[in-house]
Amino acid sequence: MGIGVLERYRDLLPVNEETPVFSMGEGDTPLVRSRRLGPELGCADLFFKLEGCNPTGSFKDRGMVVAIAKAMEANSVGVMCASTGNTSASAAAYCAYCGLTAWVLIPKGEVALGKLAQAMAYGARILLVDGNFDAALALVREFTANNPITLVNSVNPHRIEGQKTAAFEIADDLGDAPDYLFIPVGNAGNITAYWRGFVEYHQLGRTETLPRMMGFQAEGAAPIVRGAPVANPQTIASAIRIGNPASWKPAERARDQSGGVIDAVSDDEILEAYRLLASREGIFGEPASAASVAGLIKMRRNGLDLRGKRAVCIITGSGLKDPDMAVSSTQADTVEVKPNLEAIESVILESLTPAARNDWLGG
Ligand code: F0G
Repeated sequence: MGIGVLERYRDLLPVNEETPVFSMGEGDTPLVRSRRLGPELGCADLFFKLEGCNPTGSFKDRGMVVAIAKAMEANSVGVMCASTGNTSASAAAYCAYCGLTAWVLIPKGEVALGKLAQAMAYGARILLVDGNFDAALALVREFTANNPITLVNSVNPHRIEGQKTAAFEIADDLGDAPDYLFIPVGNAGNITAYWRGFVEYHQLGRTETLPRMMGFQAEGAAPIVRGAPVANPQTIASAIRIGNPASWKPAERARDQSGGVIDAVSDDEILEAYRLLASREGIFGEPASAASVAGLIKMRRNGLDLRGKRAVCIITGSGLKDPDMAVSSTQADTVEVKPNLEAIESVILESLTPAARNDWLGG
């Protein structure tokens, strides 16, 4: 049974005697060694951190469990967030578990189907905003500042605290920090959280090294790369369709203190990585998650030498979140067959090489 991040890392989290400690099974996600992409890219030690294995299918659960615990400690009646989908799914689930109300503001028509389905199923109060994520977040910040409802976007420091536990897990699994950490950047809370986690572990003497933080925004939603907010952010990776990230400055600090980069990848590069990850590694991440792998591929193409280096790509959310994208962007290898064995055999024979076909037919 997973003990959850509040229990496992309670000494390093804002947990006191009044804080309820509970878990829906968040954290302790797999760190999977790449079998194909890594070697092909000249990086023998490449790992994927599968954050889609969290209870609601994204990394948000790590921070949400802390934010909800602190909201309960403060006797909050409910929570509110703006979201491109995953934060709202996570808030909705933890509120359902704890008996709180979740009000979620989501940009109308811009949230992936699976995430909307989650918010609905978990019983969140859904406010569809006729505007983008940045507009929704501005509204939530203002509303929660003046009303007794807890804001659970990553401007809530407890969210970042919880999310830093992913860095602890990587260091615990590898025995030290990796050389490079590749991560998608949207509202920029997660890159901030990972950096904090690695720095804290280093200060505690639990690691000898610190990673370079390699953050990637989508080209059409790359305010940090451009150095200015993007009024109308556009990308197929809806989770990171954000033009004015709340944790902009801390993300820049993570980049600069670690000697890393925050760069942009195009939608085509994201889609290429999305397909490669699923078809060559068996890992189905959502498009935003593939930005980390797209970034790795881009850096490699631009000459980054990864020989002898250990790298981790964060796969932030499950591909099941966005089924429309999978169906519309991959060439499915499907064929209709009559319901009999001959029809099935003929399909299989067609897909074999001539030599294999001969063997099969015993000739
Ligand atoms: N990957 C996924 C799957 C996300 O859902 C998000 C953010 C990110 C990456 C980027 O993380 O914002 O900390 O830089 N999703 C937020 C949401 C914005 O509302 O679910 P970040």
